[in-house]
Amino acid sequence: MPRYPSAWLEELRARSDIVQVVSAYVPLKKSGRHHWGLCPFHGEKTASFSVDGERQLFYCFGCKAGGDVFHFVSEIERCSFSEAVQLLADRAHMDVPEMEESEEYRRQKSQRERLMLANKTAARFYHETLFKPAGAASLAYLRKRGLTDQVIRRFGLGAAPDAWSALTDHLLQEGFTLEELRLAGLTVIKEPEKGSDGKSGKRRAFDMFRNRAIFPIIDMYGNVLAFGGRALGNQQPKYLNTSDTPVFNKRKGVYAANLLRKQRHLDRVILVEGYMDVVSLSQFGVEGVCATLGTALTNEQAQLMRRFAPQVYLGYDGDSAGQHAILRGLGILEEEGIPARVLDFPDGLDPDEYIRRDGLAGFQKLPAISPAAYRLRRLRADLDLSTAEGRITYAREAAKVLRSLDPVERDSFLKELMVQTGFSRETLLEQMNLPGITPATVQERPRPARLNSGREAPASEDVTAQELLLSLIAGGQIPRGMAEEEDFTDEELLGLYRDLMAGASVPSLIDRAADDEARARYTRVLMTPEAEDKDQMIAMANDCVLRIRKNHYNRRLKELETLLTNTSPEEQGQLLQEAMELNTKIKKLSALAPASKHD
Ligand code: CTP
Ligand code: MN
Repeated sequence: MPRYPSAWLEELRARSDIVQVVSAYVPLKKSGRHHWGLCPFHGEKTASFSVDGERQLFYCFGCKAGGDVFHFVSEIERCSFSEAVQLLADRAHMDVPEMEESEEYRRQKSQRERLMLANKTAARFYHETLFKPAGAASLAYLRKRGLTDQVIRRFGLGAAPDAWSALTDHLLQEGFTLEELRLAGLTVIKEPEKGSDGKSGKRRAFDMFRNRAIFPIIDMYGNVLAFGGRALGNQQPKYLNTSDTPVFNKRKGVYAANLLRKQRHLDRVILVEGYMDVVSLSQFGVEGVCATLGTALTNEQAQLMRRFAPQVYLGYDGDSAGQHAILRGLGILEEEGIPARVLDFPDGLDPDEYIRRDGLAGFQKLPAISPAAYRLRRLRADLDLSTAEGRITYAREAAKVLRSLDPVERDSFLKELMVQTGFSRETLLEQMNLPGITPATVQERPRPARLNSGREAPASEDVTAQELLLSLIAGGQIPRGMAEEEDFTDEELLGLYRDLMAGASVPSLIDRAADDEARARYTRVLMTPEAEDKDQMIAMANDCVLRIRKNHYNRRLKELETLLTNTSPEEQGQLLQEAMELNTKIKKLSALAPASKHD
């Protein structure tokens, strides 16, 4: 990561008042100590987005987006940290200084830049080839698939010529090395085999993509990361994709992210399976479409899509593979707390085939089904409801699906379920085995916190830190007041701490142990830890206190989250206030911790 001179960054921060910066995007109203508004990062009707001018932080209690002014800008502008710095510097009329970069960072960065430049040059080569004789077969293929020149240009589609090394030769001429082309996944190098005469043959370089229509994979910043190549006939594989490279990870990106970023205020992203589906829907005028890159949906891809719209529609193929992928995809989206819907294409069609058959109007008429409705439909498809056995199984399985819904949505399915299965409302509800407290709906489940990305330490690590802290205190070198009784959640340790503060000597404490087991523990805990000098001991104690308190605050935050879902609006205000304060405390602690760095 690049590091800006910290004094400069602090100056920029001081000149970028978060309330002013946020107000340019979100109308804010002051209420109490904070400013409040509608969260720009998730769809909402009541303001749960707060800005703390005093501490220069923002936090959304709905979606848990939060951070400082730099985080805010990079989230809202969908840009990197350094781009956010650049934007804020422009706003404050400050020049961005040369960044301090480590040798290793510079090396990696320059390699990545070289590989992306090679990719960009390759994309241009493929695209230009498409309109030359060497690309005629690919162009004919794309036209046969019904694509217009306009959409071909929008997606930068291209042609890999039917030749061994047309692209490799071109890129070598442009000054790229064979090693760079190999790393970018553009060129395959065949090492020489030893001939029978003992002499080795020549090393040979081939183009990875030959005689294929090319789909460049471009990220949201416009970098060309990789390619997908479609066979022009029935050759296998049908699609050939760049394997993972230093600039490309197929599990992290989506196809057409560059276009998503340009389409602002989308109310949903449509995720489809194929490159062709994205291009085809786009040609017919459907916005906000992207595809996974030949793998099942991953959590990273779900998180990426969330940046572009508040909900995701799964528009997978109507065949059975696609239908299975929908169930898995819904699971991933639920894990990420992203509201989802399903576009169920009839007759086993994929989105490309469907929109060509029924047009944009037909596409827009397709109902977007809720996950529960989709799951119920899938269950029914596998069961025979004309038999008692089928109806019983359906009632049981449907109960599992409906259990996690909110009461209103659940009720909307109940009547239908009664009719389909013949069971009474009471029986069905009983089967759902609802807990006393209704869990929040899947849709409303908050997305995983990003503010406190430091993973919560397990309780045992917490106790270890308490033990170490106590041992440092027992050494008598730590200033009084550094620790507090609240830092010790372990009863035994708390007792020892109190006695130490009351002036008890270490040996007298060990003598007080009730049994052998306790004595062993006391001894271990009260032994002086390894430390070079007093300063180091103080630093270690400080570290322990920070760790313990951070865990403690995080635990309380978790509790608050649970409490929040079941309280009256009046009480919520107080809880929210406490949560906000806890987050600020955690942030402050993270800033103090020697191990944590600003990204
Ligand atoms: N895919 C792949 N490798 C294959 C087949 C498919 O990586 N051998 C990926 C590609 O990303 C492709 C997607 O899976 O876009 C969907 O594949 P499929 O449904 O088979 O193709 P379509 O999108 O229908 O493509 P086409 O219409 O060109 O047949
Ligand atoms: Mn298809």
